[in-house]
Amino acid sequence: MLQVYDLKKSYGKTQALDGVSLDVSQGEILVVMGPSGCGKSTLIRCVNRLTEPDSGEIFFNGQSVIDMSTQELLQFRRRVGFVFQHFNLIKRLTVKENVMFGLVLSGMDSQEAELKALDALQKVELSDSKDSRPEELSGGQQQRIGIARALALNPEIMLLDEPTASLDPILVGEVLDVMEALARNTRATMVIVTHEVSFALKVADRIILMDHGKIVEEGIPAEIFTQPRSEIGRKYKRLLVA
Ligand SMILES: Nc1ncnc2c1ncn2[C@@H]1O[C@H](COP(=O)(O)OP(=O)(O)OP(=O)(O)O)[C@@H](O)[C@H]1O
Ligand SMILES: [Mg+2]
Repeated sequence: MLQVYDLKKSYGKTQALDGVSLDVSQGEILVVMGPSGCGKSTLIRCVNRLTEPDSGEIFFNGQSVIDMSTQELLQFRRRVGFVFQHFNLIKRLTVKENVMFGLVLSGMDSQEAELKALDALQKVELSDSKDSRPEELSGGQQQRIGIARALALNPEIMLLDEPTASLDPILVGEVLDVMEALARNTRATMVIVTHEVSFALKVADRIILMDHGKIVEEGIPAEIFTQPRSEIGRKYKRLLVA
């Protein structure tokens, strides 16, 4: 469904992506891990060209994302759910309105958008808070709004960039639970960037480890940390036995 070939991106002297290739199939849950600064966000943002890669190719269902016109790119982004590390919610709108916003913007009439928003809020267990403002909710609840907003678009693929990174540890669990339920119940295709090792082992179909802009290790959860070939893989393995 998603293919990335030899993707490269530099910021000045920093090579954020140094030739990354990967293949995500329909319904697959791919988890991307690696130390801070290794290029995970750059990779995931390049997929829908929120960040423009310097070179390489990206295909979505066979269509080149790199070759898309501005108009085609806007349409494509509606098929991709993106959840950010920071919630990017609109303060003056209610929870429900935040989820409806993208739908209405894409031309859906407001009644239909409301039904879709309520459905998405139910999936992240936030129905009771639909009329609250984001700031009245906890960080974990706010991130669940972010996930509902992406879900409401009924995306063909979800890209989640450290959705739990800005949460206090107690709230991390509730967001991980929602993501796990989505992964299991919807069979959506997902690319999830996370530092949560036990979540990755439980939910991923496949895990990719990155370091210095490259993929250094790749495998199924049961095997990836058993005999790691990379330094990063060994570090994660040590974390697990600690
Ligand atoms: N807009 C930017 N301008 C300059 N340098 C950038 C920019 N975005 C990222 N970088 C650099 O590119 C490298 C990769 O950054 P990226 O955000 O992809 O890392 P990451 O793996 O997502 O890290 P983290 O786990 O901390 O989120 C880093 O060295 C970072 O400093
Ligand atoms: Mg990042």
